[in-house]
Order: sequence, then structure tokens, then C-alpha cells
Amino acid sequence: MTHTAGRAAARIGWDADAERYQREHGDYLAGPGDGDLVWCPEGWLESELGLLGPAADLAGLTVLDLGCGAAQAARWLAKHVCGVSESLTDTAGPDASGEVISTHLPEPSPTTEAASTAESAHTRARRASRAPSSGRVIGMDISHAQLTFAQDWHKAQPSHPQVHLIQADAHDLPFATASMDVIVSAFGVLAFVPDLTVVLREVARVLRPDGHITVSLPHPVRWMFPDDPVATRGLKVSTSYFDRTPYAEISTTGEVTYAEYHHTLEDLMHACVAAGLVVTRLWEPQWRGDRMRTFGGWSADTVDLVPKTLIVRLEHRSLQKRSASPESSEH
Ligand SMILES: C[S@@+](CC[C@H](N)C(=O)[O-])C[C@H]1O[C@@H](n2cnc3c(N)ncnc32)[C@H](O)[C@@H]1O
Repeated sequence: MTHTAGRAAARIGWDADAERYQREHGDYLAGPGDGDLVWCPEGWLESELGLLGPAADLAGLTVLDLGCGAAQAARWLAKHVCGVSESLTDTAGPDASGEVISTHLPEPSPTTEAASTAESAHTRARRASRAPSSGRVIGMDISHAQLTFAQDWHKAQPSHPQVHLIQADAHDLPFATASMDVIVSAFGVLAFVPDLTVVLREVARVLRPDGHITVSLPHPVRWMFPDDPVATRGLKVSTSYFDRTPYAEISTTGEVTYAEYHHTLEDLMHACVAAGLVVTRLWEPQWRGDRMRTFGGWSADTVDLVPKTLIVRLEHRSLQKRSASPESSEH
């Protein structure tokens, strides 16, 4: 499978699977009560983990949800970034029509063709990334079908703080350099891209010097086991940890319609170093009993024995150097 086919597969696969994914998991991903940022199938929420720091500190920032799907996490972020009492028109900028902005993608679909020209869409996406004083949250995904669920939700809840929806590929972020304070990616993007370094370099480029990204992704050891929640079947090693052959679904016409990639911990660390990002926190969540729910291969049976999710927080290396320097320790 070529990298180009693998990249295109994310869009084809998630467009085809969005309806099932949202039907089966959409409510769970929105979190309990008034909503939350659900980090992983183990059930952990941002309101209890505080991986992004105090929620009050998000106010007024520019935040990107990368691989946002139907933007359930971005919705929770928008309440804290923009304030729950602000209306759509208060928090919207000139680009906040509520419609998905489709940027240039390698193989134009009817959707992207219907949007305005690629160049002006890029310009609109860049403008959406510039933070007004009230802050803004951008939900970005390669799948128009996923974003349509987010768009429909916002149309039904017009008083909820706006999430700017942008269709784009994480390999080529349509945002200005140093335009994001915080990036979040809950199981978005990293498992679906062949080359982590390209994406993490883009992340490092768009992050402000003191910005950070927190991502959750399938734990690398998960690759060794079948995607089966029953421990007797799902915890038998079936694949070498070191086997990087992607999982691919191929149509009868030879088109790659879905792909997932295995990146070992070593691959992830190499990509972070190459992108100039350092890990400042790493977390391997265990099952959270009171929110127990089987989710694909994740289940109480299996997750109590083997980590299935990895959560990492990454920051610019330059920031680490500054905070470790003798000058900064004097303050
Ligand atoms: C497992 S879903 C997670 C969605 C959402 N974060 C959630 O928690 O429900 C992965 C998402 O990543 C998106 N994605 C995959 N590859 C991408 C890429 N190269 N650029 C942007 N989004 C991508 C998919 O379209 C999909 O919506």
C-alpha cells in the first residue's frame, strides 16, 4: 500500500463509517451530564483528569480538536474557551457560518468541489485559526461525513458556543504558524496516518511556543492482540509487536477503503524528537468501573490486564530548554 493510498483511505473509510460510529458511540463520546471530553474507551474524562490544566485557564485560548469526528470533545472545550453564556453570534467570527469549511484535499470529492475554491477555503481556515479575544475552538477532520454530524448538532443547539468546523488533512494543516494554544486529539489522526513525523511536525509548526498537544491513541501493545473484547480470545498474542504492516481493507476494485497503522513506542518517540516535541506526561489508563462499556476490543476483562490506551502530552522542546535553563530557574 502506498502512502498516498493510505492517506486517502482515512477519508474514504471514515466517510463510509461515520453513521455507524456515531450511532454506536456518539452519545458515549459526548460524556455524561452536560457533556465532557471523553479521553478513551476506559471512560476517563477531562473534568476529572485535568490533563489540559484547570478548565478555567482555557478561557480565551485558540484550541484545535484534531480528528474531531462529530466534535463532541470540541463542544466541551468550546464551553470553557468561549463561555457557556455566550451565544453563537457572540463567539462566532467572520467565518463562523456554522457550515463546514472544506480546504484543499488531494483528491477532490463532490463535497470539496461544491465548496468555494481551494485557495479561498485555505484562507478562511487560516482566518478561523486567528484568535479573537474571546477565544475559539476549531474542530478539524478529514471526513466530511463526520463533520456533518457536528454541523447538524450545532444547528439544533444554536445557543451553544460555536465550534468552527474545518475539513482538512492533518498532514497539511491549513493554519498559520504559531496560531494554536492547545491541541487535543482523542483517538483522532495518529492511528490513521502512515508517517507520524509529518503530522507531528505540522502540529509543532502551528502550536504557539508555549502551546501543548494532548493525544490519546491505541496503546502500541494493543497491536499484538485481536480486536476482541473477550479475554480468552482477545488476549492471545496474534501479531508481532514489531510488525508495522498496516491493517488495510481493500475493495474488490483494489481501492484501500480503510487503513490503520501500528506505531511502536519507539516510532512515536522518534517522531516526537524529529518534530521538536517532548513528552511531558504519559498515562496508561485502567478501566473506570462505573462507566463500564465494551467498545470494540476494549472491555473490563481485557483492559484490566493489558493497557489499551496511551495518552501523551507534548510540548515544544524550546520551552523545555527555557524552563530548564539557570536564568529561568532564578525567577
Ligand atoms: C476514532 S475517530 C475519533 C473521532 C473523535 N476524536 C472522537 O473521539 O470520537 C478518528 C477520526 O480521525 C479522523 N482522521 C483520520 N485521519 C485523519 C487525517 N489525516 N486528518 C484529519 N482527520 C483524520 C477520522 O476521520 C475520524 O473522524
